Amino acid sequence: MGLRMIRELGDPVLGKKAKAVKEMTPKLKQLIADMKETMYDSDGVGLAAPQVGMLKRIVVIDVSAEQDQPIVMINPEIVEQDGEQTGWEGCLSVPGKSGKVTRPRHVVAKALNEEMEEFTIEGEDLLARAICHELDHLDGHMYVELVEGRLYTNEELDEMFAKETEEEAEEQA
Ligand code: NI
Repeated sequence: MGLRMIRELGDPVLGKKAKAVKEMTPKLKQLIADMKETMYDSDGVGLAAPQVGMLKRIVVIDVSAEQDQPIVMINPEIVEQDGEQTGWEGCLSVPGKSGKVTRPRHVVAKALNEEMEEFTIEGEDLLARAICHELDHLDGHMYVELVEGRLYTNEELDEMFAKETEEEAEEQA
């Protein structure tokens, strides 16, 4: 199959609760392979099955700079969370925009891998944020519900960051 179409905010499928996976099938294996390909193609750090129109509890995440450490989580659950981090967040279903969201700094989650074996994963910072963000998709929730203030376009953010860098440079000069 290959690349799948990413559903965007406003698509009813993004507001629905996804169903647990009971057994691995060739179709689901293909879905997972396509989700990884679609995530990398869009330069995202995570993708949940509902974002490609499939109401299954499956997410893929990769926060590595090299995009070579994909994590597949089936029927995932957060079992522990602590701390707090506030930072910019975006979503492939809300292209070209970002908003400030507060998430736990550290999470522990349980899930099944592609072989349907249980594993535990511990995430901090960006990985913790990505796990929370992707798991929310499985319950029909989007980060825009949690945004503090408003959404910014990437152009606005680029300008803001450029200004901050300029000011810092002036302070140091
Ligand atoms: Ni998202």
